[in-house]
Amino acid sequence: MDNALRLQYLEAMGIDVWVPRASTHGEQAATIDHAEPETPASAIDSWAILEAEVSNCTRCGLCTTRTQTVFGAGNKQADWMLVGEAPGQHEDEQGLPFVGNAGLLLTEMLRAISLTREDVFITNILKCRPPNNRDPHADEVELCNNYLQRQQRLIQPKIILAVGRIAAQTLLKTDEPLSRLRGKPHAFNNTPVVVVYHPAYLLRSLLEKRKAWQDLTLAIQTIKNNEG
Ligand code: URA
Repeated sequence: MDNALRLQYLEAMGIDVWVPRASTHGEQAATIDHAEPETPASAIDSWAILEAEVSNCTRCGLCTTRTQTVFGAGNKQADWMLVGEAPGQHEDEQGLPFVGNAGLLLTEMLRAISLTREDVFITNILKCRPPNNRDPHADEVELCNNYLQRQQRLIQPKIILAVGRIAAQTLLKTDEPLSRLRGKPHAFNNTPVVVVYHPAYLLRSLLEKRKAWQDLTLAIQTIKNNEG
């Protein structure tokens, strides 16, 4: 999005943005008569801008089949950011991530480590539901990637949980199977990433629940290690 459009969004939402005079008129400001440090307009980003962009997004074909976008939900200053694959039917209907049965189990997994959904920020690689819950296409992932990167920059979480194979492979840019990605911390833009089983998979394979607990324990340990 170009800066002019970005600033229009901000204005429409009643948010005041200070713009250096030179960049509004295309000429050098003669004097500097203010105390604030200069912020290049290109560095301006905010939740309001990002949410507006996502909800109006037409970057890929999923905009024609979605009911609504699913931006993500939770604490915007969370230590924990959870990234799933893409909205399913319930999420598409409600505009919220992980609200179906898998979401209920995810809530329980969080509760097991004394977290609530309000403590964490939950989002997906894709902000729109793929028809019939098919796997995301590479071009959709590519076109949606910027939104996830900006969410991460705004939150600055201490840890990212990659929920399920698709989220893990996308974040870590690898084709390795989930079984090889689990059990050790990785990184996404310098934030540690721990890979966990998708709760939809755990619902089908209850025997793996013990491994889910191991993944969560690894995430807690990774945060502790990083805090020194
Ligand atoms: N599965 C996901 O990966 N994300 C959701 O939001 C719901 C189900």
